[in-house]
Amino acid sequence: MFKWRDDFSVNVEKIDEQHQELFNLGTSLYNIVSLKDGIDRYDEIIAILDKMKDYTVYHFKYEESLMKEHGYEDYEAHKMQHDSFIEKIQSIKDEDVDIKQKKIGMDLILFIANWIEKHILVTDMKYKEFLNDKGVL
Ligand SMILES: [Fe+2]
Ligand SMILES: [Fe+2]
Repeated sequence: MFKWRDDFSVNVEKIDEQHQELFNLGTSLYNIVSLKDGIDRYDEIIAILDKMKDYTVYHFKYEESLMKEHGYEDYEAHKMQHDSFIEKIQSIKDEDVDIKQKKIGMDLILFIANWIEKHILVTDMKYKEFLNDKGVL
């Protein structure tokens, strides 16, 4: 989970860096939720989740502006996937973490990891050649 592999690369330096940062945030979240020392991690979990939400919004905007700037034809469909993911993670309320901290944490982490991996490998990968051909590297 959240392990970077070469086949995640879209050969655009800034985007690869941003994807790696998303993986790093996911790993931090996973590590905290995995701790079994009985200490209440609520504040830390909320803080990382907030960071992740903010960074995801930032990354999606960055990708969208690149696609738009270069006239990428699947822009709308791609943006729709971004929007629905943002909506999903924004809908996670602080109370959801508070009540059953670990259970909800792990479910959530699995969802985020699966979504991000699949989105990069399937959807982001579709613009790889297009942007590379435009000289975006
Ligand atoms: Fe994307
Ligand atoms: Fe992306």
